Amino acid sequence: MEYITYEHNAEAADIISRYYDTPPLAYVHSYGCQQNVNDGERIKGVLVDIGYGLCDKPEDADLILFNTCAVREHAEQRVFGNVGALKGLKEKKPGLIIGLCGCMANQKHVVEKLRQSYPYVDLVFGVDGIDTLPGLIARKLEKHKRILLEPAQRPVIVENLPIRRESEFRAWLPIMYGCDNFCTYCIVPYVRGREKSRRPGDILAEFRGLIAAGYKEITLLGQNVNSYGKGLEESIDFADLLNLLCSVPGDYQIRFMTSHPKDASHKLIDTIAAQPHLCKHLHLPVQCGSDRLLARMNRHYTVEHYLELIEYARARVPGITFSSDIIVGFPGETEEDFQGTLDLVRKVGYMQLFTFIYSKREGTPAATYPDATTRQEKTDRMSRLLAVQDEIAMGLVRAQVGQTVRVLVEGYGRLEGTLSGRLDNNLTLEFPADASLMGQYVMVHLTDARATVLLGEWMP
Ligand code: 5AD
Ligand code: SF4
Repeated sequence: MEYITYEHNAEAADIISRYYDTPPLAYVHSYGCQQNVNDGERIKGVLVDIGYGLCDKPEDADLILFNTCAVREHAEQRVFGNVGALKGLKEKKPGLIIGLCGCMANQKHVVEKLRQSYPYVDLVFGVDGIDTLPGLIARKLEKHKRILLEPAQRPVIVENLPIRRESEFRAWLPIMYGCDNFCTYCIVPYVRGREKSRRPGDILAEFRGLIAAGYKEITLLGQNVNSYGKGLEESIDFADLLNLLCSVPGDYQIRFMTSHPKDASHKLIDTIAAQPHLCKHLHLPVQCGSDRLLARMNRHYTVEHYLELIEYARARVPGITFSSDIIVGFPGETEEDFQGTLDLVRKVGYMQLFTFIYSKREGTPAATYPDATTRQEKTDRMSRLLAVQDEIAMGLVRAQVGQTVRVLVEGYGRLEGTLSGRLDNNLTLEFPADASLMGQYVMVHLTDARATVLLGEWMP
């Protein structure tokens, strides 16, 4: 593993500026998880660094880049649909560069499909190649040839990539990349490669910069933040990293995702209890509530271990809430397995649940597992799960009414003249107030709830 520093590519910037009469415009669209959204912000930063302006509509662009997601088939189909829709635009504007990057671009069969069936796609590069984008664009402009790179893992971490963040007070901060867990349904380890941790000094420097720039909420990102630190020279784990970051003075809150239950430690939970900067919430994806399926998923924990963690967290961190990811219809899931999931969901009482119907990913072990459950049975199980969860969530949301909370104002509410914020547990609240409060911490008294949205009154 090598750590390298991004350097401005003056030669590429020069080629680009000579090619266009006026500064060219780029349209970048990211699909999928927060990690990808953050990659998209860095892609925009790099493009601005070499002379591009950014635009919001593909029709205005000289360069269109789709930063893609491969986690479920539906996400891939959407991308192919959106790329297909650009054919007409390219015919009208032959100089337009159309590129695809991110997780889909790290799959051989996708690159092959683009090569064969999407001749108007000019540029394809994988998740680790953001720093190489200037050189690729320059080569494309000079040689007028398609550049479709074959998927490859690059054992490097590039520090100091320029960035154009979407918000002025909420920021994503990756602490590690890739995943070593190989859950049998998941494509991530194949497309994002082996786990690699950023050095604590680099993370701390970026964190300090964000706090100094006025950022109030930092979300630390990694596929499995609890295994942070593996392979680093220093001996440091995720809880140590949290303590290091929390030593930076300022008024801010830290969130993090995602925690893997097999690595979430009591030390981590004790740290959440001890550090006021950490939101009292844990996103702890369980995937399902059957030990038999958990083993087939290669998750390395049991329902009992999971519930023990939840119990420990509840005892140590008063008021802590939980959210989770659940896969319905994993190959071989029986009604009994599914009942185990419903049971677990009832026992934990999640504030939020992100639910997915199993999607077969070519190249993963589970793609070869026999699957006799019909689509209809799977969607039926999904509706039953959602009905159970809705009832739980409504009860938990209602129970918040009457409290006075301190929240960061993040956006506009659905009604005119209202603003929105999120509680520690990610619940959204809305209250009438003036837009000048945007990005600030305010006290709000929670007066009512509509479905899962809380309503409140600002307490100046
Ligand atoms: N099918 C359905 N859901 C999946 N996830 C990952 N791979 C798949 C798949 N093949 C879900 C998991 C994970 C979340 C990010 O996406 O629940 O936690
Ligand atoms: Fe996929 Fe499992 Fe890694 Fe999460 S921990 S990215 S579900 S392989």
